[in-house]
Amino acid sequence: MVIGSALPVDDLSGRVALVCGGTGRIGRAITRQLAAGGASVAVHCHRRRERAESLLTGLKKDQPGHLQSQRHIVVAGDLASVTAAHAVVREVRDKMGAPPAIVVNAAHPETGPAATDQISDSHLNAHIDGFRIHVNVCRATIAGMRDSGAGRLILISGALAVRPFPGLGVYGAVKAAANAFSRTLALEEGSYGTTVNIVSLGRVEYEDGTQAFDPDPRYEALDKITRMRMALTKMATPADVARTVSFLVSPASSAITGQVLYLAGGEAM
Ligand SMILES: NC(=O)c1ccc[n+]([C@@H]2O[C@H](COP(=O)([O-])OP(=O)(O)OC[C@H]3O[C@@H](n4cnc5c(N)ncnc54)[C@H](OP(=O)(O)O)[C@@H]3O)[C@@H](O)[C@H]2O)c1
Repeated sequence: MVIGSALPVDDLSGRVALVCGGTGRIGRAITRQLAAGGASVAVHCHRRRERAESLLTGLKKDQPGHLQSQRHIVVAGDLASVTAAHAVVREVRDKMGAPPAIVVNAAHPETGPAATDQISDSHLNAHIDGFRIHVNVCRATIAGMRDSGAGRLILISGALAVRPFPGLGVYGAVKAAANAFSRTLALEEGSYGTTVNIVSLGRVEYEDGTQAFDPDPRYEALDKITRMRMALTKMATPADVARTVSFLVSPASSAITGQVLYLAGGEAM
């Protein structure tokens, strides 16, 4: 089965997955990949519901006959609020059963880089909300996940947690916090059969060759050095991220927990 550009790489049939933040370019690729593997997907959105609905229409259109039991839904909510996070997870559980696989891709809205002397309270709060999203989704889901005995939590993070870049101090700090939180959770939940892993992205290149943002020209030399440190010649694409997530959702990854997998072309090791 091919859904959009996604080819199945793992057998996920019978699995239910909630993709938090399914409307961005990376979230859409993850959603398509999991659906192509046979999973039923709850596509979460915050503000862009129409995007989530159109993604859902595409998934249903591409669904082959032999996977008619596959069922996808859209759920919406501001995950920076723990009440909303519980409501989203409850809705998925009521409509699809307790989701044993959760992908936390949602992040703060576009804020762009800001050097420390330019950091506003709204910039800081938006990023801290990004961290809240990670924590809220985890605390809303782990009780139900324990029941499944084989839960999967995958958190999308950033290489800026370990490799700083000017203007991205708060972003890197909240990603480092999310990493520390997730690895602690891996220790706490391992005995219940739940794995918790982090997919940490360097700069992602979209299919049209663009990237999320261009760095400040003052740091062009540093940007060049970062690229020179890459072992691979190509940056990761949303499809690369999606295939890695699919593996971590699949039974093939059952022995992996508490790990940070870098998709950064080797520039962060
Ligand atoms: N793009 C990159 O180069 C890059 C590099 C390193 C790491 N990452 C990480 O990869 C992940 C995805 O990045 P992206 O560039 O694809 O992001 P994006 O396009 O900006 O999408 C962000 C997603 O988060 C959702 N969201 C925003 N605020 C929310 C809130 N308060 N509650 C719930 N959901 C909320 C959005 O939902 P709506 O659209 O419905 O509002 C959207 O689905 C993020 O964790 C990001 O930090 C990206």
